[in-house]
Amino acid sequence: MMAVFTVTLNPAIDQTVMLDRLVPGEVHRACSIRQDAGGKGINAASCLADWDVPVTVLGLLGGANAAPFDVLFAAKSIIDRCQRHAGSTRVNLKLVDPHGTTDINMDGVAATGASIDAVIATLDEQVGAGDLVILSGSLPPGCPADIYASLTAMLQRRGATILLDSSGPALRHALAGPVLPTVLKPNLHELAEWHGGPIDAPHQIVDVAHKLLDRGVDLIAVSMGAQGALFLTRSEALRARLTAQSVESTVGAGDAMVAGLAAALIEGAGLDRIARLSTAFAVGKLGCAGPHLPARNEIEALAACVETDILMGETR
Ligand SMILES: Nc1ncnc2c1ncn2[C@@H]1O[C@H](COP(=O)(O)OP(=O)(O)OP(=O)(O)O)[C@@H](O)[C@H]1O
Ligand SMILES: [Mg+2]
Repeated sequence: MMAVFTVTLNPAIDQTVMLDRLVPGEVHRACSIRQDAGGKGINAASCLADWDVPVTVLGLLGGANAAPFDVLFAAKSIIDRCQRHAGSTRVNLKLVDPHGTTDINMDGVAATGASIDAVIATLDEQVGAGDLVILSGSLPPGCPADIYASLTAMLQRRGATILLDSSGPALRHALAGPVLPTVLKPNLHELAEWHGGPIDAPHQIVDVAHKLLDRGVDLIAVSMGAQGALFLTRSEALRARLTAQSVESTVGAGDAMVAGLAAALIEGAGLDRIARLSTAFAVGKLGCAGPHLPARNEIEALAACVETDILMGETR
């Protein structure tokens, strides 16, 4: 079976502080505090591990506060090939009170050329033909803006499948190169930002996606939050959605969808199954507080309930 790798160059620790009431300028006593390993590739790996897919994580981690990552990797038997650099992984502080969540995001230390080179060297050593590499998230300061384009070119040349989930400049640079990733998972906002204008109707999504499919992308999943997602290949398009029965946290729904796309690709699935399984991963994750999946039989039950509409082509 193909080996699966996720690359997270800009991971984060989510530090959640629960308060009775947040009042600016006042001293607060926390009701509870928790720290969770985060970062989009880490979240996707966590979901894949729950689906019993052996997965290796690569990327950068600050050595000074790596404990939440070590705990997660050990608990889920995730193979850790991350580079540890001096300093800390950035922390995203979430202050939760009955009115909502106040986010305070902090920058991490800049990546050094040597640490980036070490990640590239690890990929070079580990990834072979038929493997799947998931490139996820934003880039840290100090990282070349076109790193996803160069990694895609390097890894696709040797026969690996590349699944990219990024946004803003990192996505724009990744899609500027001559060699495009095999699979993309933009949300609607990210796709519109790349397109350079608003995208409203489904036929517009199909048109914009075809610009990328025509340049060599094989599969695009455009996620739209509670509205579901569109799944497109050069010859097929379908829309999939499922009403969530319980929503514990929407954080990482897109990352769970990426894991579901990977799980379906490992099965060699056709578009209908790809749409069902990745939607089931995303909606199943909504019922969990962190980047975790419910049991396999629950995911399969959700997959069977996903509503699909064919927009174009015959889907298997
Ligand atoms: N409230 C919801 N109800 C039902 N399904 C949802 C809801 N929120 C998300 N989903 C499912 O999760 C998928 C991914 O969500 P979304 O489009 O928000 O991803 P995202 O913006 O990439 O999120 P993130 O990057 O923060 O993980 C959607 O396509 C949909 O299937
Ligand atoms: Mg996302």
